[in-house]
Amino acid sequence: MGRGGPPPGVFGKGGGKSDLPFAGIPPEMLERTNALADKEPDFSELTVPFSHRPPDEPTFTLWSFLGPYKFRMAGGLLLVGIAEMLGLIGPYLVMTAIDDAIIPGDFQVLLMVAVIWGASLVLAMLVNGFRTWYLGVLGQLLMYELRVRVFAHLQRLSLDFFTEEKAGRLMTRMTSDIEALSTLLQTGLINLVAQGLSLMFIVAILFSFNVPLTIVMLVIAAPVMLGMTAWFRRVSEKGYEEVRNKIAEVLADLQESLSGMRLVISFNRMKHNIINHRNVVGDYREANNRTAWVSSIYQSGTTFVNVGTSLLVLILGFFILREVNPTMDPDGEFTIGALIAFMALVDRFFRPVNALAGLYNQFQSGNAAVIKLRDLLSTPPSVMESSWPRKIDDMQGDIQLNNVSFSYEKGAPVLKDVSLHIEAGQSIAFVGPTGAGKSTLAKLIARFYDPDSGEILIDGQNVRDVSLDSLHSQLGVVPQEPFLFHGSIRDNLKFAVPHADEETLLAACRAVGIEDMIARLPQGLDTPCHERGSSLSSGERQLLALARVFLSRPRVLILDEATSNVDQQSESRIERALDTLLQGRTAIIIAHRLATARRADLIAVVDDKRIREMGPHNDLVAQGGYYADMYETWERQHESE
Ligand SMILES: Nc1ncnc2c1ncn2[C@@H]1O[C@H](COP(=O)(O)OP(=O)(O)OP(=O)(O)O)[C@@H](O)[C@H]1O
Ligand SMILES: [Mg+2]
Repeated sequence: MGRGGPPPGVFGKGGGKSDLPFAGIPPEMLERTNALADKEPDFSELTVPFSHRPPDEPTFTLWSFLGPYKFRMAGGLLLVGIAEMLGLIGPYLVMTAIDDAIIPGDFQVLLMVAVIWGASLVLAMLVNGFRTWYLGVLGQLLMYELRVRVFAHLQRLSLDFFTEEKAGRLMTRMTSDIEALSTLLQTGLINLVAQGLSLMFIVAILFSFNVPLTIVMLVIAAPVMLGMTAWFRRVSEKGYEEVRNKIAEVLADLQESLSGMRLVISFNRMKHNIINHRNVVGDYREANNRTAWVSSIYQSGTTFVNVGTSLLVLILGFFILREVNPTMDPDGEFTIGALIAFMALVDRFFRPVNALAGLYNQFQSGNAAVIKLRDLLSTPPSVMESSWPRKIDDMQGDIQLNNVSFSYEKGAPVLKDVSLHIEAGQSIAFVGPTGAGKSTLAKLIARFYDPDSGEILIDGQNVRDVSLDSLHSQLGVVPQEPFLFHGSIRDNLKFAVPHADEETLLAACRAVGIEDMIARLPQGLDTPCHERGSSLSSGERQLLALARVFLSRPRVLILDEATSNVDQQSESRIERALDTLLQGRTAIIIAHRLATARRADLIAVVDDKRIREMGPHNDLVAQGGYYADMYETWERQHESE
């Protein structure tokens, strides 16, 4: 809800908090606004509580997913069945009209037939309308459940998954795959069953009209149709697979090039990008054209067989009629009315046959979507919460690493046998060359990843046994590339502490020294940040990220290059703020600037997959090792400035 809206609880039960004074809704409107509010659906509660471990659900298959809805699905099937049956009354009525009304010249009967026919049409219309609504609502419900379920699973997965998975592909899962499934559920599946049933019905009715004629029709039409359908299935299966792959590529390309737009502009790659995208979209169009072509051949082929069969039935019917009922007696064994009804039913016979082929395709793409979603849903988070997680209520911040080794990719270790002890309340600075593994070390402590071997203890407990909630709520991380959400500065700050009041927010801004900057902005805290904070400078982004972590008052603080992009003045301001913030807290500070690093109680030089030196600043300088060299170089430069 935007600014200036009515107070929460009037519109939208999950509504936000407004900061402007609100005069209240005039009494004469209150009743109606409240009535509106009651009608507004409320999705703010989780029906299933979020858990870090995947719930014990059966593997995702079409059947396991539809299981809980079987009665509603059966209801849909019943409606479709009734609609189909109503459609089959027509030929019967035609027969009655011809044999019992037109030939004997009985208007009474004709009138009756007309009334029954009219009534059945009205009924069919009502049933069809209801069916469309019913299946639509059911399909949307299923999609809603599925979307939330897939999204919840994505929230559960670990960082490595998102590093490896192309974002565009995930988008395809959430859009076109889920839509393919939606079409299948809303129309495909139920129609598939209904058309199959209706085919059987029609054959049964045909037999009841005339056995030899039906047999002849089936013997001639069925093999041709089966052959054609088999061909269609084979060809179109490949075609639709192609279409699905191509749309995934279109979305992936879109995602990539849009999120890298800054780079695209600076390298002047627009033209190239357009050509590239045109190729991808062109492939998608080609794939669609191919399937359309296959479908059109199949459609016109079935129409041809349909017409041919009808002609054959007409000629055969002529002979049968002459044989069994030469006088055209309307009460005879096979009548002229029956022949006409038979022909109408032959036409009907081909409708489900035609529809079945199309539905088969829907089934195919729906099923392919199910397989892809199943793979996604059965990917376990690589950082799994233990089944009996222990809560650390009041984290002291004693951190110990015992022989920790880690690699992002097998065979390429980033850290080897690292051991380290940080006492509660101590601050430690990681320094070392680029790519040495400093950020990795910090990520392991925050349990974004699990080590390949060795263990990490916080307050003497293995982090693997600690509940992720209690770990992450007491451990504040300012990552190397801070991320801001689309929203105002206020929203981004409140991300850490949703209920923080204005005073607290401003205090946090004051602590990191952005109070003035915010005061200068015409909209203040309500200034919008664009996606990923691209409308703010890197330094401003870092400062905001710092303020955000200030707000959450973590017990352990991890700052990854938190001051690398700010000017000297801001840096010293932040350092002063850090001095207060770090009091009584454990802190891990990763810094290339030794001015920041040297303030820490301990300094660890990370290099060559291990900790090369560790100790207080003065000791390391006195020791005359790697750090002493670094420091000397830095000091010399500093003096010359
Ligand atoms: N998600 C990842 N997948 C694979 N390799 C990675 C991943 N993240 C980092 N690496 C590799 O691991 C090594 C250590 O990276 P890390 O980010 O820990 O370095 P760093 O010491 O923080 O460097 P910098 O000072 O530049 O931030 C690097 O060689 C890097 O290429
Ligand atoms: Mg780093």
